[in-house]
Amino acid sequence: MDAKLRTSLRELFDRGAARDAGEPDRLRRLRNLEPPTAELLALVLRVARARDVVEIGTSNGYSAIWLADAARDTGGRVTTVDVEEWAGVSQNLERAGVAVTRLIQDGGAFLAGRGDASVDLLFLDAERTEYAGWWPHPVRVLRPGGVLAIDNVLSHPDEVAEILALLAADPDFVGETVAVGKGLHLAWRRGPAGLREGAGEG
Ligand SMILES: C[S@@+](CC[C@H](N)C(=O)[O-])C[C@H]1O[C@@H](n2cnc3c(N)ncnc32)[C@H](O)[C@@H]1O
Repeated sequence: MDAKLRTSLRELFDRGAARDAGEPDRLRRLRNLEPPTAELLALVLRVARARDVVEIGTSNGYSAIWLADAARDTGGRVTTVDVEEWAGVSQNLERAGVAVTRLIQDGGAFLAGRGDASVDLLFLDAERTEYAGWWPHPVRVLRPGGVLAIDNVLSHPDEVAEILALLAADPDFVGETVAVGKGLHLAWRRGPAGLREGAGEG
C-alpha cells in the first residue's frame, strides 16, 4: 500500500472512531474494522491469491478500501454488500482510487443468489447473529482453497457461536481464530486434490 493511501485510511478510521464515540445507537455507528485486522485480512487475500472477493457489511467503505487495494495485487475484484447506503461511502472509495462493486442488499439474500464455488474470499462484517441463518451459503459459495473470514469472534463470542459450530462440524473446513483486533476467525475450504497432494513431499 502506498504511503498516501495508508495516511488517508488512518484519517478515515480516526474520523469514524470520533464519530462513533458520540453516537449512542450502536446501529448508527460506522464500526470500522480495527486497522491491524484490516492489515491481516489484506495479507490473507494476497496469500490466498483471492480474485473474487466479497464483503458483507460496507459501512463507510473503510475495510472495502483495504480489500480493494490488496486485490490489485491478485488481479481481483471486490463486491461489498450492505442493507444501507451510508453517507460518504462513494466519495471515500473514489478518493481512495479503488474499484469496488457496491450493492445495497441483504447479505444473506446476496449470498443465496451467488453461484456455488464462485468466491475466493468472503468477509462477514454485518449483524453477527444473522450469519448462522445464512447457512449453507457462506460456505457453499466458497471455492476450494477459498477463505471465510468473520470479525468480532472474540468481542462477541455468543453471537457467532452458532456459525462457528457449523463451520467446526464441516469436514471441508479448517479454521483458526486470530487474536487481532476484535478477533478474526479464518476458515480455509480444503483445496482441490492438487493443493493437498504435494503436502509433505520433500
Ligand atoms: C460493522 S459495520 C461494517 C464495517 C465495515 N466492514 C468497515 O470495516 O468499514 C456493519 C455493517 O453491516 C451492515 N448490515 C447489517 N445487517 C446487514 C445485512 N443483513 N446485510 C448486509 N449488511 C448488513 C450495516 O448496515 C453496517 O454498515
